[in-house]
Amino acid sequence: MMNIKTVPTQPFADQKPGTSGLRKKVPVFQQPHYLENFVQSIFDSLEGFQGQTLVLGGDGRYYNRQAIQIILKMAAASGFGRVLVGRSGILSTPAASCVIRKNAAFGGIILSASHNPAGPNEDFGIKYNISNGGPAPEKVTEAIFARSTAIATYKILDVADVDLDKLGSFKLGEMNVEVIDAVNDYAQLMESLFDCDRIRELLASGHFRMCMDSMHAVTGPYAHRLFEQRLGAPLGTVQNGEPLEDFGGGHPDPNLVYAHDLVERLFGDNAPDFGAASDGDGDRNMILGRHFFVTPSDSLAVLAANAKLVPAYRDGLAGIARSMPTSQAADRVAAQLGIDCYETPTGWKFFGNLLDAGKATLCGEESFGTGSNHVREKDGLWAVLFWLNILSVRQQSVEQIVREHWQTYGRNYYSRHDYEGVESDRANALVTDLRAAMPTLKGKQFGGYQVDYCDDFSYTDPVDGSVSQKQGIRLGFTDGSRIVFRLSGTGTQGATLRVYLESYESNPAHHNRDPQVALRDLIAIAEQVAQIRQFTGMEQPTVIT
Ligand code: G1P
Ligand code: ZN
Repeated sequence: MMNIKTVPTQPFADQKPGTSGLRKKVPVFQQPHYLENFVQSIFDSLEGFQGQTLVLGGDGRYYNRQAIQIILKMAAASGFGRVLVGRSGILSTPAASCVIRKNAAFGGIILSASHNPAGPNEDFGIKYNISNGGPAPEKVTEAIFARSTAIATYKILDVADVDLDKLGSFKLGEMNVEVIDAVNDYAQLMESLFDCDRIRELLASGHFRMCMDSMHAVTGPYAHRLFEQRLGAPLGTVQNGEPLEDFGGGHPDPNLVYAHDLVERLFGDNAPDFGAASDGDGDRNMILGRHFFVTPSDSLAVLAANAKLVPAYRDGLAGIARSMPTSQAADRVAAQLGIDCYETPTGWKFFGNLLDAGKATLCGEESFGTGSNHVREKDGLWAVLFWLNILSVRQQSVEQIVREHWQTYGRNYYSRHDYEGVESDRANALVTDLRAAMPTLKGKQFGGYQVDYCDDFSYTDPVDGSVSQKQGIRLGFTDGSRIVFRLSGTGTQGATLRVYLESYESNPAHHNRDPQVALRDLIAIAEQVAQIRQFTGMEQPTVIT
């Protein structure tokens, strides 16, 4: 006998999904009805899911378990036929995308705040993915938000919590729940893409040492299985491989600042040949060689240029897509290959249509995200395997491969300066002033740099024609250099200003500079046009990547 409760509720005003779903502090989600309202708003915005399959899982952070219990009972009350849930409620974001696709699910709910710290007073997040396995496009997230402002009731099954630690299936009301181990599904997909025999040879050769840092987040079990069990890397290759509810108190953002243990090893004495890290939910990656850092923008370009070495991409790429602030290094590869390069707003949701339509095969963002048409999320371990595949075929070091790449295509010096924890009013004032100054900037000379264009990036999706406006203020110079300003859409407190800087250097004699030095003039111009110090009250960025 089903016991469905209809619970009266009132809207919360702050449930607008950002770049990647709804992210708030845990105590916000713990308020009575808060999570329930948002979940019901998702369900209310969808049509035709009765009897269908939903995929559910998260990065395992604090509050994941509780949220999963609530969502299962709500899915049962709303009429889903089946939910595939990761064991213990855990699924990496790319694995969730893989499972949605493999099972032709109606959609999925992913619980994650990505790389943001976790714990009782830290961040939590929830997002909805559609049947292609990718993040819901804006028209869906807007519908969810609209619903959240008008919601009056939600439905939930009145039953005890279920055991999610054992694999298997059981009934929850009339709905089937299947507790799955997605590590296998994911590993199988990876093995279908790459030249695993060669990677195995490389990893087992004894001449090549790699180190994978899972940062106590979701990729630990996937990385152990793939690298150590399936590909023959020695035990101990994966460090911090046990997922923890608070990520070990760390900040699982794979960059030079937060992945400091790994960085120290790769830049230390007797360093391994290859180092990689992934983030909280497993969709980001950082790639390091011995004493060498590969920027994510360069990584995308190198993967694209070497794609033919990977079985899955042997026949060539349909196109490449990158987010607008990502460097134009990939554009140069696309030009050489004679394929299109698409420039999208920040956020993986904008790649979905291009991938579905077969217009792009590889996608990437400067924020340590790369992926392909194998799923509809960015995929950290996929990028690591892609690099290993290239390394195993080319038998060169990471540094040699990147330096040769620069020789062929030129080097796009690149850096992002983040100003975190800015008071929202002050960040908005900076943007308002910058917008007002836009018309006066075109043609203006700053030292050796002349402004070619200045606009607020607007994107028209080439597949469905939808338009996304105000996606970042761009200042383009006549020599191809760029400065981009935008506010983060993933924060949970105050505002984060991101300043993206890029310049191009064709001469190999000048490829050895420190990016902060190479970009010095652009950094000064950014300050001059946006008055960053004055508006933020900060002398320096809080994070430079
Ligand atoms: C950030 C990154 C963006 C990425 C998103 C989710 O968003 O900049 O590229 O897609 O996280 O991982 P932002 O905080 O800039 O809105
Ligand atoms: Zn992430």
